[in-house]
Amino acid sequence: MRVLVTGGAGYIGSHTVLSLVEAGHDPVVVDSFVNAKPAVVARLERLAGRPVPAHRLDLTDAAATERLFAEQDFDAVIHFAALKAVGESVARPLEYYRNNLDATFSLLAAMAAHDVRRFVFSSSATVYGEKAPVPYQEDYEPLVSASPYGQTKVMIERVLTDVAAVHPGWKVALLRYFNPVGAHPSGEIGEDPQGIPNNLMPFLAQVAVGRRDHVTVFGGDYPTADGTCERDYIHVVDLAAGHVAALDHLDTMSTDVRAFNLGTGSGTSVLELLHAFERAVGHDLPYEIGPRRAGDLPAFWADPHRARTELGWSPTRTIDDMCADTWRWQSANPQGFPEA
Ligand code: UD1
Repeated sequence: MRVLVTGGAGYIGSHTVLSLVEAGHDPVVVDSFVNAKPAVVARLERLAGRPVPAHRLDLTDAAATERLFAEQDFDAVIHFAALKAVGESVARPLEYYRNNLDATFSLLAAMAAHDVRRFVFSSSATVYGEKAPVPYQEDYEPLVSASPYGQTKVMIERVLTDVAAVHPGWKVALLRYFNPVGAHPSGEIGEDPQGIPNNLMPFLAQVAVGRRDHVTVFGGDYPTADGTCERDYIHVVDLAAGHVAALDHLDTMSTDVRAFNLGTGSGTSVLELLHAFERAVGHDLPYEIGPRRAGDLPAFWADPHRARTELGWSPTRTIDDMCADTWRWQSANPQGFPEA
């Protein structure tokens, strides 16, 4: 399939582009490059061993999005492009709602106009909100997220459901990611957050490489085994494979829209991840236990059964693999991707 990958220069998008090529698909990247570097594309081409077409496009520009679909044929769309910093979304909600929703509206309008019917959406476990029982199951309702970022995922899932209902033949997979970490085993591509990392794994990686002097563990008094929060970390290469499995499953899907958890089904605490990362690096990392971060839930992980039975997909990489691959990427690229 010729697959439009929006946000294809980003962390999960870039790994998915490689998985698509490996599976015999033909990805076309669009990215605004507001939170990704163009240098990613050359690395992708090197790893893929073939050209990867990439266009600079801000999807909120509906006319430009329409032109792309008028000029090129696509069999499917995988939609990653979005703003995704939780804290920033609380501070700038209008920007988040406008950007993430408008981008999706442009895309869906162009798909409808050009009869592109297959859609894979980059959603998040954050849609389950604070009341859902753990492990999270796809049928849980109501979906309510604590942040504007998370609410854009809830709203877009709803928009997709309503739009698919009136367009015969549309097939939509809603992929709810747990905590993506790790990097391609080549060490050539990985997560490259701009500014101070919000998420734990890139923070650990930057401490290990000397860009930050210590990690602050956000809370040591949670009702968990070691007092720190537990999350379902999933290797980004497994996650990327989940997108290919979802794409390949769309045509045989029994319903127009279906949600799938992409997680491992087990939780790892902040301290367990920190110690696993220390093993990967080969020495201790300085850390201190600080106050809780507002909005953090004590512990959650996926019920992964639906993806296993319906997509035939399950993750294979361990926490140690995730840390070793993150470290290979970060140590080879201490400052992330080059600017040009
Ligand atoms: C966060 C987002 C979630 C988003 C996901 C993407 C919040 C509240 N949630 O999930 O919506 O989909 O990222 O991957 O931001 N931690 C530390 N020290 C740090 C950083 C994190 O102790 O410097 C802890 C956090 O308290 C948390 C765990 O590490 O318990 C994981 O944090 P993080 O990587 O930010 O992911 P989530 O908060 O689970």
